[in-house]
Amino acid sequence: MRARAPSLRRRLVVQLIVLSAGLAVALYVAVRLGAERASEATLDGILGAATSTIAEELRSVEGGAELDLSPGTFSMLAAMGEERIFHRIDINGLPVTGYADLPLPPQAPTALQPVFYDAEYRDADLRLVAVARSLMIENRAAPVLVIVGQTREGQRAIALGLANRAAALGLVVFLFAIPFSLLSARTLLRPIGRLAEAVGRRGGHDLRPVRHPAPAELAPLVEQLNAFIARLRQTLAQTETFIAEAAHHIRTPLATLRSEAEMALRQAGDEPTRARLRGMIRATEESARSANQLLDHATVLFRADQKAQDRVDLGAMARALAERFQPTADLKDMEICLSLPEETLETSGDAVLIEAALRNLIDNAVKYSPADSTVDISLVDDLGYARIEVTDRGRGLGGETQAALAQRFRRGANVGGVVGSGLGLTIVSETATAMGGRFALAEREEGGTCATLWFPRSR
Ligand SMILES: Nc1ncnc2c1ncn2[C@@H]1O[C@H](COP(=O)(O)OP(=O)(O)O)[C@@H](O)[C@H]1O
Ligand SMILES: [Mg+2]
Repeated sequence: MRARAPSLRRRLVVQLIVLSAGLAVALYVAVRLGAERASEATLDGILGAATSTIAEELRSVEGGAELDLSPGTFSMLAAMGEERIFHRIDINGLPVTGYADLPLPPQAPTALQPVFYDAEYRDADLRLVAVARSLMIENRAAPVLVIVGQTREGQRAIALGLANRAAALGLVVFLFAIPFSLLSARTLLRPIGRLAEAVGRRGGHDLRPVRHPAPAELAPLVEQLNAFIARLRQTLAQTETFIAEAAHHIRTPLATLRSEAEMALRQAGDEPTRARLRGMIRATEESARSANQLLDHATVLFRADQKAQDRVDLGAMARALAERFQPTADLKDMEICLSLPEETLETSGDAVLIEAALRNLIDNAVKYSPADSTVDISLVDDLGYARIEVTDRGRGLGGETQAALAQRFRRGANVGGVVGSGLGLTIVSETATAMGGRFALAEREEGGTCATLWFPRSR
């Protein structure tokens, strides 16, 4: 099994969701802290104002001080909600009224700067403010400290309300983020899928560079892929050149060998030597054919990938091939009958391949037929396909199937003394597939073989 890297889509979705969860929590914390601070500032403002008012309402009277609390002062404090209020007034450092044990401020306030502080008092959490002023009592300046404390339930409730709203908002943001993450992951990754699909749709033989539009991030991948394809093409081209050269280098000395053997045969007198020389000639002929077929096959393999789109006039090609095989047929007193339609039937594809396929079919028909027989080549239009039939009256296929005979280097049991390499039908099958056509080989009821090729008609 291939190890699988974690899915990009999953990673992206998880990251987006974690990010939005983090944002939602941050939003909640920020609103909560902000609300607490804002409501505390409001509370401080009111508390400070009320306490300053109380401090100002202190008047010195004969032998002491007097406080006239106006109702406005307390209604001001009630603005924050239902709170308990505590106060303490010290003159000359001694508590004179209010709760004498109300906690003192951490540092003494000045006349200009009240001090705000928090303290625990009678099981309540208090916000306190201390204001200082001085009062003339018996002609002496006496320091006065006014402390007012207030429970902070109302303030807390306001802050909590705001924070809850923020939490709800955060949750909504988070819930929206999930489908959004899925959607954006899909849109983001779609080009990758499209590219893979485009590459996958190409046939196994398609070695053209990938031209599918890809996002900038995928461009290096496509570039590498194309470089790879180019290297592969180059290797194939080298192989083809190599085989062509090898075939050429084999054919030339074989031709020499053959003509030498033929000369020796003419001069040889005794029968055993002549038989040997005939065997030698046969073997050179076979080798030459094999070299040719190998070259043809290499050409098919290479050119099938090139996807050439020539317009091929099949009628003209069949006529030219029939003429080319006429001398060979004449040697066996055979006739090649051509039956072509009035119209021109064309297919688009690689002319070299189609010619090789047709040549191999006619070659088989002629060589596996007895002397004095006829080979028919016909071309007809068959439902949008051009159908070429090569029919002979030879030995038939000897019960072997087309699939078996079309295998590389596979020769039938019926070949007798006929020379061949077993590559002909391989070339035919591969060409038919590469051209988008079809090939069928069947034994005829009346004896002989019928080979049929279909190529898509081009208009
Ligand atoms: N027209 C035909 N008549 C009889 N047998 C055929 C015919 N064409 C092909 N075959 C059989 O199919 C086999 C494979 O054909 P092919 O690939 O062309 O190889 P080769 O002709 O070199 O033997 C042949 O060896 C032969 O047995
Ligand atoms: Mg053959």
